[in-house]
Amino acid sequence: MEWGMANRLSRIIQPDGHVLIMPIDHGYFQGPTTRLEDPRQTVTPLLPYSDALFVTRGVLRSCIDPESNVPIVLRVSGGTSVIGNDLADEGITTSMEEILRLNASAVGISVFVGTDYEKESLLNLSKLVNQGERYGIPVMAVTAVGKELDKRDARYLALASRICAELGARVIKTYWCEDFEKVSTGCPVPVIMAGGPQADTEMEVFNFVYDGMQKGAIGINLGRNIWKNDYPVPMIKAMRAIIHKKATPSEALDIFDSEKAKSASKAGGGRRRDDYADLHG
Ligand code: 5RP
Repeated sequence: MEWGMANRLSRIIQPDGHVLIMPIDHGYFQGPTTRLEDPRQTVTPLLPYSDALFVTRGVLRSCIDPESNVPIVLRVSGGTSVIGNDLADEGITTSMEEILRLNASAVGISVFVGTDYEKESLLNLSKLVNQGERYGIPVMAVTAVGKELDKRDARYLALASRICAELGARVIKTYWCEDFEKVSTGCPVPVIMAGGPQADTEMEVFNFVYDGMQKGAIGINLGRNIWKNDYPVPMIKAMRAIIHKKATPSEALDIFDSEKAKSASKAGGGRRRDDYADLHG
């Protein structure tokens, strides 16, 4: 692997081989997503605990300070919306020149295997890989399921992940599923798990993230189950313990509970305000 590619990947994937990427890209097709209405406010308290950010160029420019040292995975696919005809009909939204200008460490593109736009999205991935390899920019392929969440089974996710790896993606972002080892072992490049809609309990999230890590994932790109939680900072600290410190789900829950108690007592139980208090005194 060439130096630039290796260096960028090493900014994202930590020395232990694991990673916690914080995605705040949801607005690119769903507008002001609940609790991500003001991305700067949502993400600022989480930045110290994020190994990288998954974000569009617009939110990067307007909400993330350029002095911030957080590595950027730039979301470079889009062109559709939740109220349009088909979420799968995405194109590449950002040039390689822009990716370099923004000093991105990697780029991410959604791929819609099994949809009417399968071929276009796979060829978009290939084009991005062709350009990315030329400039040393790693491409993360996102195996998107659109509105059909029932597609999140091992057979589909293993197929989609493998195809993206075959086309040259350096990293795959996919969903956790039962028998996750079928996804990770069938995929020759590292696999990162997304979170999906907010789960009913924190323990549900700790359980599936732990399971995925045991079965070959290298980390998470998990947003809503962190920043939609009433206690996002305790949540991300607990997730970091699973990703980087081999914590079990029950150890993660202990961390969450004790951090939650601290932050609630510090700021009278308020949600976002207490998280800011953590960082800004
Ligand atoms: C949305 C994305 C997100 O990065 C991905 O879905 C992870 O976020 P979440 O954990 O909230 O599902 O690709 O376009």
